[in-house]
Amino acid sequence: MSPGSLAVSPSKVAPSALDAAVLRRDFPILDQMVNGHSLAYLDNAATTQKPLPVLAALESYYRHDNANVHRGIHELSRRATVAYEEARIRIARFIGAPHASELIFTRGTTEGINLMAWSWGLEFLKEGDEIILTAMEHHSNVVPWQLVARRTGAKLRWLEIDSEGRLAIDVLPKLLSKRTKLVTFTHVSNVLGTVNPVADIVRTVKQGSDAIVLIDGAQAVPHLPVDVAALGCDAYAFSGHKMCGPTGIGALWARKSLLESMPPFHGGGEMIRVVEREGSTWADLPHKFEAGTPDISGAIGLGAAVDYLTQVGMPAIAHHEKELLAYALGRLAEVKGFRPLGPSDLSQRSGVISFTLGDAHPHDISTILDSEGVAVRAGHHCAQLIMRCYGLPATTRASFYFYNTTQDVDRLVAGLHVVRGIFG
Ligand SMILES: Cc1ncc(COP(=O)(O)O)c(C=O)c1O
Repeated sequence: MSPGSLAVSPSKVAPSALDAAVLRRDFPILDQMVNGHSLAYLDNAATTQKPLPVLAALESYYRHDNANVHRGIHELSRRATVAYEEARIRIARFIGAPHASELIFTRGTTEGINLMAWSWGLEFLKEGDEIILTAMEHHSNVVPWQLVARRTGAKLRWLEIDSEGRLAIDVLPKLLSKRTKLVTFTHVSNVLGTVNPVADIVRTVKQGSDAIVLIDGAQAVPHLPVDVAALGCDAYAFSGHKMCGPTGIGALWARKSLLESMPPFHGGGEMIRVVEREGSTWADLPHKFEAGTPDISGAIGLGAAVDYLTQVGMPAIAHHEKELLAYALGRLAEVKGFRPLGPSDLSQRSGVISFTLGDAHPHDISTILDSEGVAVRAGHHCAQLIMRCYGLPATTRASFYFYNTTQDVDRLVAGLHVVRGIFG
């Protein structure tokens, strides 16, 4: 990333002060008309937009350095390998990982969780073992465990949510036992916005069992300062595209001893030490878990994204989104029939607002908002278990990032008044 391409430098950004209007200049995609209106992009929990330094890093890699990594003894391959491995180091540092070799590149959160399920799960789970997960999980942290439980005979046990959409943590000690082998949950809910107290939950799990703890960080790493070592968890998965990086790249961090105890997930090139007809031995971490040609440009793009986020400042991002959330919830309360889900205590939530609006169907709401140039999401948000807790088939969801402004929120509010005008 060229330092001059960023609109702010760290020294100019106090944790409480982030100039979204200035930062937006780094996101050319935001400056466009949609259906005759300027775009208000409020679908950031689904995916985020990419700043110029990330676009530049991708283009520069393909223009100047494109080659396969770890293989060729030639200049381009050397450069590609250095860029790929340096990206790993910067991303590992960004999440507080003690060693870069503990950071496995994946296609995203879903693949990171599947890696844990199919490698760790098949190796260590057996009949009668228990996996604790929660009612607020994204399908990507439910279905892999259902599949592995069916194969191994392990049982799934569920931590419920309370009426405010918070985990019923006081019940957790009663669920823990010698049979508990894994506790897994999302750091931040993609539907409710709930920020779970990860370090406290990990402490409870470790006091009451020998289980490992896997965190789904898809909605946390983009929005909060995350330090996996301080959280005390054993493994943590996240996606690049939700944090200004390209699609198709993400990472799984896990403790070295845990990764070393696990068999490979995929077999192929890059992940072996020696291949014989009778069998093979594995490369050292992290390569043991990165079979085949990796997403080299994706890793480099994600490296540029974490550089960008670091310069903007994660505390400043978290603070800005919290202010926007408070402003939005205040203004949305003016809209008759607006009912948000999730904790009322703003200190317990992030910049995600799922809501219902009278009897209006979420798909109708988002279609009308789209005709006003406001991009939100409608549906079950890959979290049908939460929808069931609330007895809803779907909600509308607006989700913020640091480049959103109060004007974007005002556009959402105005759009919902249009919806009310149509549906009464
Ligand atoms: C909480 C949560 N977990 C997991 C995922 C899956 O992420 P990906 O599709 O990038 O693998 C998402 C995506 O929306 C999510 O919000």
